[in-house]
Amino acid sequence: MPETLGTDRTSPVRIAPSILSADLLRLGEEIEDISTADFIHVDVMDGVWVPHLTFGPDVIMASRRASSLPVDCHLMVEDPAPIALQAAEAGARYVSFHIEACPLAHRLAQELRAKGAHPAIALNPATPVSALEEIAQYVDMVVVMGVEPGFSGQAFIPRTVGKVRELAELRDARALDFLIEVDGGVSLENAGALAEAGTDVFVAGSFVFGASDRAAAIASLRAAAEAGY
Ligand code: DX5
Ligand code: ZN
Repeated sequence: MPETLGTDRTSPVRIAPSILSADLLRLGEEIEDISTADFIHVDVMDGVWVPHLTFGPDVIMASRRASSLPVDCHLMVEDPAPIALQAAEAGARYVSFHIEACPLAHRLAQELRAKGAHPAIALNPATPVSALEEIAQYVDMVVVMGVEPGFSGQAFIPRTVGKVRELAELRDARALDFLIEVDGGVSLENAGALAEAGTDVFVAGSFVFGASDRAAAIASLRAAAEAGY
């Protein structure tokens, strides 16, 4: 299907529900249920870099067939380069890989761009924003983890808000235009503060898929974030 950026194009807030929290036996219906979001967040975990084993490029392809929403693919794997390129070939719009797992980040960003995907770099809670100084200008999105990668449903680490603010300052100081995404523990309690600090994209797994009315959950998260800008 042709891609859009969700139905609410006037909102500066982008919501990316993580299908890690979806009912996987009903994935098609679950994806239909989030049509008012802006991205489908696909968490690729290899059972090595993080303990959990999840999806691969086939699920990205299936998601692309099922929905016009672009796929935001988040790689939590020991060796991100080969799988990142497969994710791009499978049609992911953004492909994020962790700076902690990728010493050749500049090369991978270029290779992803050559495949038509937007390169994105992710930061674990223990990694300072300064780790991105030399790569920030080569990526289109930075993912600030609000939890340790590996599982949905974990408690948000409050320091994440300060890291987003530091990153937004770096973006302004260097006149860069990457999106700032926060992933992990996002909810109505922190969306306003995250937006105020500079977050553009809000990943939400358990908050969206744990709700019986997903459209209402997406709308409430969007409103909470908009109130913070
Ligand atoms: C965690 C994943 C997240 C997770 C978010 O490693 O990267 O995308 O699904 O889930 P919640 O929103 O429940 O923390
Ligand atoms: Zn994720």
